[in-house]
Amino acid sequence: MLERELLDAALAALANIYRAEGVTFQRPEAEATGEALLRGGLVPAQQPQCSDDAAIRALLLASPHPAAQALLAAQHLIPWDTNPVGDVVPEELKVYTVSTLMGPEGPIYAPNLRCGLYYQRPGSYYPLHDHDADETYVILAGDTLWTAGDDRREREIGEMIHHPSHMPHAFGTQGGVLAMWRWSGDVNLESYRFLPDPALASA
Ligand SMILES: [Fe+2]
Repeated sequence: MLERELLDAALAALANIYRAEGVTFQRPEAEATGEALLRGGLVPAQQPQCSDDAAIRALLLASPHPAAQALLAAQHLIPWDTNPVGDVVPEELKVYTVSTLMGPEGPIYAPNLRCGLYYQRPGSYYPLHDHDADETYVILAGDTLWTAGDDRREREIGEMIHHPSHMPHAFGTQGGVLAMWRWSGDVNLESYRFLPDPALASA
């Protein structure tokens, strides 16, 4: 397949997930994200290989999620290491790599939305944080012990997890986890902050 077709197939697979979220939960922002992904704007060019490339591929290969194989086929076209809030994350907490697919700064332009992919390394914990934006994560591959407010439990592949504005959230994983994320509402980056985390205090 041409690289354009590989990338479009991956974006269409992600758009399908957002379309389902929009219908199931009556979230127009989810449907708008799906439409923006299908409009395109992401150049189908080989991207620099991220240091987690092999681990991401292994998780996708083993995942039963409907979008996993399309993402695996387009992995070399995904712009990893493009975390919009990377500047405010201390080095010791960078247990992840993030891809930004959409936002006010692009690469797919959307003034009031951000979305992308998130990979977190095996045996790691990303502590409590919050932000102004509403957020939805969808688990695409791997395992996770997820904290969303007072709700802390393991999540399965395919689950959608919604964080309303300023709900504290944190993620643990044993074997690594791959997810997609979306911000809506007030998508400013300045409000992103880490919070006191009882899980760290008791560690
Ligand atoms: Fe978040």
